[in-house]
Amino acid sequence: MAAQKSATPSPGAQAVAAGEWAGKSQAMFERMLQEVPDALRGIFREKLMQVLKQKAKGGPAAESHVTEIVHEMVPEPFKSNILKAFTTMGDIDMKVVEEIIKNNPGGQETVISILHAIQAKCGYLPQEALILVSQKKDIFLSNLYRLATSYTAFRIKPLKKYAVTVCNGTGCHVKAGGQILKELEKKVSGNGSQITLEKVRCLGCCDMSPAIMINGELYGGAQAQARIAEILHE
Ligand code: FES
Repeated sequence: MAAQKSATPSPGAQAVAAGEWAGKSQAMFERMLQEVPDALRGIFREKLMQVLKQKAKGGPAAESHVTEIVHEMVPEPFKSNILKAFTTMGDIDMKVVEEIIKNNPGGQETVISILHAIQAKCGYLPQEALILVSQKKDIFLSNLYRLATSYTAFRIKPLKKYAVTVCNGTGCHVKAGGQILKELEKKVSGNGSQITLEKVRCLGCCDMSPAIMINGELYGGAQAQARIAEILHE
């Protein structure tokens, strides 16, 4: 009898096992596990999942359940790291990310397309989205980060108010582009800058030099300089 009873998962266990995660709970759970060394992660995942199922008591795993586990079971300094990471996790709709992954069936060869699609939807690659891709496509999170940070097409932080791309090609550089870039770099290095700065070798409109792009709009010559001056003085 006892053996039969333990073989039947509780409704809570079924809920979590079936993937019912409320809000960012799944991403938070995975973030918590990131503090555990790779070799021990499987064991910890199983143990913590059991605790989570008990806390869920038949419902979906909630964000508060994961936070409770961190408070109750994780020692310092890992606890502080994890709680801090929770507060900076973006409010992205993970259902959108799940849908993107579902629409890209296959193995690790689909990862680049998935990352492009996530960035198109979210504007960047949020950590919780990378964690989910890492799980679903069975790829180390560290490899995904390497990928996301080595391609200029990807960004792992949300864009600020102004996404400024400055052409640093020779034609633009000698026609005030170099000066614009210098001033922007100085501004960006200060606190509270609202500028995400990127430099490229050519924007494909050399007759407009100095050429810049602000939030997807192209500016050239005196117009570019005037627009940058406005932004710098905000
Ligand atoms: S060199 Fe600047 S747009 Fe081509």
